[in-house]
Amino acid sequence: MSRSILTRRGALSLAGLGACHTVAPTSLLLPRHCPDPTALERRKILALPYEKSAFPIGSMAGDIGDDRAVLWTRVRDDRRSSWGLVVIELAQSDSRVAYEGPVSLDEGGFVQHALEGLTPGARYRYCFVRVEGGRAVARGAGGRFRAAIHRDSDEPLSFGGTSCTSAQWGGEFDTLRRAALCDELAFFVHAGDHVYADEARTLEGFRAVYERTFSRVGLRALHESAGMYVVWDDHEVHNNWDGETVEPARLAAARRAFFEHHAWRGGWQRPRRLYERFSWGRTLDLFVLDTRGERRPSTRAGPEAQYLSREQLQWLIDGLRSSTAAFKCVVNSVPIARFEGLFRVAESDRWQGYPAQRQRLLEAIRDVPDVWFLSGDFHLGCVARLEPSGPDARVIEVLMGPGGQLPNPIASLLDPPQYDFATSESNWVRFDADPRARSMGVTFFNEEGRAIFERTYRSPFTTAAGSRTLRAL
Ligand SMILES: [Fe+2]
Repeated sequence: MSRSILTRRGALSLAGLGACHTVAPTSLLLPRHCPDPTALERRKILALPYEKSAFPIGSMAGDIGDDRAVLWTRVRDDRRSSWGLVVIELAQSDSRVAYEGPVSLDEGGFVQHALEGLTPGARYRYCFVRVEGGRAVARGAGGRFRAAIHRDSDEPLSFGGTSCTSAQWGGEFDTLRRAALCDELAFFVHAGDHVYADEARTLEGFRAVYERTFSRVGLRALHESAGMYVVWDDHEVHNNWDGETVEPARLAAARRAFFEHHAWRGGWQRPRRLYERFSWGRTLDLFVLDTRGERRPSTRAGPEAQYLSREQLQWLIDGLRSSTAAFKCVVNSVPIARFEGLFRVAESDRWQGYPAQRQRLLEAIRDVPDVWFLSGDFHLGCVARLEPSGPDARVIEVLMGPGGQLPNPIASLLDPPQYDFATSESNWVRFDADPRARSMGVTFFNEEGRAIFERTYRSPFTTAAGSRTLRAL
């Protein structure tokens, strides 16, 4: 792993410019709201020849806080070149080079470069570069991200989400290619089934699936368009796996490949839990859960049902109850809302199949205002109340996606009043969290980029159990 403190000047020189002007589709493009056409460093980087073949699966920013981020890529390089990284902090009047320096490659060519000292809320562009004789001579994958806003800020934020992206799905993930064009998003959430690796058994097998999936135009563009928060679900290992029955060697290979292919501090070599909290000022706290890796199906029906480990559940309850952010968003790979009828078939795979723990969580957070669940897995999009009636009918879960997978036709069975909206179309969801207006906008976009559902939910922010109601404007 490479690690650096940001410096204005690092080891690389950008003085040696190449003559080729091939422009990558998503690299270092400035957003409309940040006019900065004269940034010298940007012009120099764009003037370098573009080495597409060395970066077949693009790049990604992740693990983002208000002063830190990790930049990820995988380099395919037979020439055994040296590689570097240039990071530019954008500003209205003047951009600055926030970092330029070397990066190190893991076995397999993976780069997970940890940055520190970022400016809260600032927007960044980055680009990996090939280095010869201390000079950048070619550019590779690159993208953009935003540092989390300052802990005292209540700035309104927009962010996106989806789930379920399979290489077996035809096309180039057009839904996500369109999402990548939305340059106002602070970050993007992928709620699991990022790849479908069910046939893989070995590390090389899992790596091949990631390569097939991440090289699709739409997914690569998405990864390079905003910082990503991700969590795994079942298909990163195999369908409906659980820790009690999974083959250990297969799980170990899948877990390593998952860590290799995302932006994590420490990469795969540093074992870590997959659930984590990311704070975006006073606007929102994001609680990314691991609802897959800790479940114990043998406990399902009992009073000690374990869908999350005891530690993860307590961490979640404590975090939600102590959070002072206006919105508490829980990224939850498999839904927590009650789904009946035909949906009972797969009940054992979700919260509903572990009723004692589900009830414990919902009771513990019943007086916490403005908790939102953002979920995936069903291959349909919907806006659901957690229960058809009662106190938990006040809490909303949004099922995001599929971003690129077979649609689920039984979305048509989901009707009001429990379900405000349901769709079988491929989709991504835009959330507009406004702590000043005390509102959350929810907009679903389909493969053509059309908004197929748009509603703003406003909360009175009362904290007494049972007295809060959400209403659509
Ligand atoms: Fe899926």
